[in-house]
Amino acid sequence: MPKEKTLEILMVTMPYQGHLNPMLNLGKQLVSKGFHVTLITTEDGRHRMKQNLHNSEVQFEFFSDGLSLDFDRSNGDALINSINVQGSKNLFTLLTRLTKVHNYSCVIVNPFVPFAIDVIADHGIPCAMLWIQASALYSIYYRYYKNIDSFPNLEDPNEKVHLPSFPVFDVRDLPSFMLPSSPPHFGAYMNDLFQSLDKVKWVLGTSFYEIEEDIVKSMDSLKPIYPIGPSVSPFLLGKKETTDFRADMWNVEDSCIEWLDNKQPSSVIYISFGSITVLSQKQMNSLATTLKNSNKSFLWVIRSDDSNASELPLEFLEETKGRGLVVKWSPQEKVLMHPSVACFISHCGWNSTLETLVTGVPIICYPDWTDQRTNAMLIENVFKNGVNLKCDEDMVASTEEIERCIRKVMEGPSAFKIKKKAMEIKESAMKSLQDGGTSHQNLDKFIKEFIITNT
Ligand code: UDX
Repeated sequence: MPKEKTLEILMVTMPYQGHLNPMLNLGKQLVSKGFHVTLITTEDGRHRMKQNLHNSEVQFEFFSDGLSLDFDRSNGDALINSINVQGSKNLFTLLTRLTKVHNYSCVIVNPFVPFAIDVIADHGIPCAMLWIQASALYSIYYRYYKNIDSFPNLEDPNEKVHLPSFPVFDVRDLPSFMLPSSPPHFGAYMNDLFQSLDKVKWVLGTSFYEIEEDIVKSMDSLKPIYPIGPSVSPFLLGKKETTDFRADMWNVEDSCIEWLDNKQPSSVIYISFGSITVLSQKQMNSLATTLKNSNKSFLWVIRSDDSNASELPLEFLEETKGRGLVVKWSPQEKVLMHPSVACFISHCGWNSTLETLVTGVPIICYPDWTDQRTNAMLIENVFKNGVNLKCDEDMVASTEEIERCIRKVMEGPSAFKIKKKAMEIKESAMKSLQDGGTSHQNLDKFIKEFIITNT
């Protein structure tokens, strides 16, 4: 694309797995189009990423969030306070150093670094945003924090939400950050972000147009979003010019792919709850009992590093030996592309959701917090490529309910219908990424209108 000199682009993100992955995917795409890309995240992220960063085609730079490396960052309040005060100063200093020697065409921010937009504006560099959740979430937050539409009483989970281009849905399925039960710092965070949005010139999304067409259109007259996804590693889509460098924060157990090679087509249940969610002991017991009694093969990711981690029931591994495999971290995109995988029990983080959309894998939704309940509602009612588990007030799905949903996505006419829908979505997802597809066009438009003309 750029011929005479290599144009430089900066990206900024927090070091959460579900945030780093889509930023890195876009970074790789831009490198393959001839740009020089530097991704900034925190020192904590540098410390936790497992691969050799020198193998990445995207360069990395780091700033401190103001906390020592051994500080327990699951304390959200302390992290947010520190990063807002000290982290923003450190990012400012880093940008000052970098802009002395580089001429950046633009900075692409992850929305969940609220001060980054202001720091970038202070440096006079044009700012774009990569919205890393569903366009639906962008629309809901925008309408709420910018007072565009009226919302019902958020204290009552059964109240109905009526929004343009959405089916009518329950308050309980709104993003948890908006609800009174959520710690207030999350709501404040989102409010700050949407008030800073006027300084963002272009909003890109990791979704794709066809799956959220009406919602995307409904934002055109407000602050448009341009989907360029589904965001998945370009390497997996056969883009030869990118490497399979990953930003994993756990050691990837690639051996599970060989294990899958020895299973029948469409026979294995894949289970993962992303990089943050930890199952309660009740949730784990109920899921383990269902899998034990199901006689089905399964691949279950249980991260081991969390001090609150629940324990698998005694004898579970012994009793499911041969048909069950538990790993600490999987190469998830490769797992979902594997023909042996039948369905995915997922917390419905947006990256996991997109990965099912692009691979045609039906999903059993077991959402936890933030955007996940909204994603689960979309999966069951709008995308129709999966089913949503019904849970009790402790967010536990009973063994009978998990069994019911497994049967629904793996057996009989309901399974056929869901798989057919999932495969149709896969086809349209792949089309959107191909030359001339909607996502391909949006990315090219962004590059032409924004990066090149701003240089
Ligand atoms: C967070 C939020 O929790 C989520 O709701 C939001 O939409 C994005 O940020 P996270 O919970 O980690 O993300 O879930 P998800 O969005 O699904 O991202 C997890 C990423 O880790 C995915 O790209 C997935 O492929 C990857 N992963 C997960 C692995 O590579 N291996 C695993 O074993 C599990």
